[in-house]
Amino acid sequence: MAHEDLYVTVKQLMQEGKGILAADESIGTVGKRLDTVNLPNEPENRQDFREILFTAPGIEEFLSGVIMYDSSIRNTTDDGIPFPDVLAARGIIPGIKVDKGTRPLEGFSGEVVTQGLDDLADRLKEYYALGARFTKWRAVITIAEDIPTDACIEMNAVMLARYAQIAQGAHLVPIVEPEVIFAGDHTIQRAEEVSMRTLQILFATLRQYKVDLKGLILKTSMVLAGDQYKEQSTPEQVADATLRAFHLSIPHDIGGVVFLSGGQTAKRATENLNAIAQKGEQPWPISSSFSRALEEPVLTAWQGKEENIELAQKALLFRTRMNSFAQKGVYDKTKDVK
Ligand code: 13P
Repeated sequence: MAHEDLYVTVKQLMQEGKGILAADESIGTVGKRLDTVNLPNEPENRQDFREILFTAPGIEEFLSGVIMYDSSIRNTTDDGIPFPDVLAARGIIPGIKVDKGTRPLEGFSGEVVTQGLDDLADRLKEYYALGARFTKWRAVITIAEDIPTDACIEMNAVMLARYAQIAQGAHLVPIVEPEVIFAGDHTIQRAEEVSMRTLQILFATLRQYKVDLKGLILKTSMVLAGDQYKEQSTPEQVADATLRAFHLSIPHDIGGVVFLSGGQTAKRATENLNAIAQKGEQPWPISSSFSRALEEPVLTAWQGKEENIELAQKALLFRTRMNSFAQKGVYDKTKDVK
């Protein structure tokens, strides 16, 4: 089945110089973000934070889409304007995270599987009516001594494929996100091997279940040594390892690839994106879909204070501009913050 409407959305999301803001933390996770600036996890603080992000002046130049969470797609600004409408009015496509988080994979110590398929088709109808045009489902692949197992990668790939089928059937672009976790003491070689295996299994499964690859976006980790490994990977190493893994696993006909930041600092994520872009044109458009690497500078500037809102919004605009340069391979780190 051809999905012309999905192809249009994919093209808009993957516009040159633009990225996707992932502001889709669950209520628990956004609480951890607020806690970093000593703000209690209360509805008002969550709403204020999202309003600061979504109404920041100028961001439409650098953001093509925003991924929201169930509670925020239903939420409004202080003036009562629904968040999806605020974004759409500025040409930013509203998106929604649709998985319901992870649960332990019984019998497989340290591994998890993502859930949320049961009532997905019904939920998607409602999200479409609320203005969403794309969706995200995150699977978690952890690296440790004997993991990930193929069983875990395969189970998550089937869930991702089923999710993508349902999303496409509901006229919503699926972003399939198998996140290979950065935390750990693994080498970059091990990360490359795991990323490649994960992506190969994922795309074989997506094809098997007849998901329309052109109407889909992959969200993935950059390939780099674990955050506890003695030697942190350089941007050059990250770019080479990431693109090597991609070329051996990602079909050329998918809609696009976006990176998560995965716990890297904001500046490091930008630098690595830039190094990847500098390797020249690839078979797929490549951009970013950061959460922490966009939101942390905003939270630091804001601190929950009314008088800091303008500064916080400028921090978001600045970060999205830096990432826009990086997406084109023209980022100059001497013009970034220290
Ligand atoms: P980070 O950029 O913080 O890794 O988040 C991206 C994301 O959407 C994870 O699901």
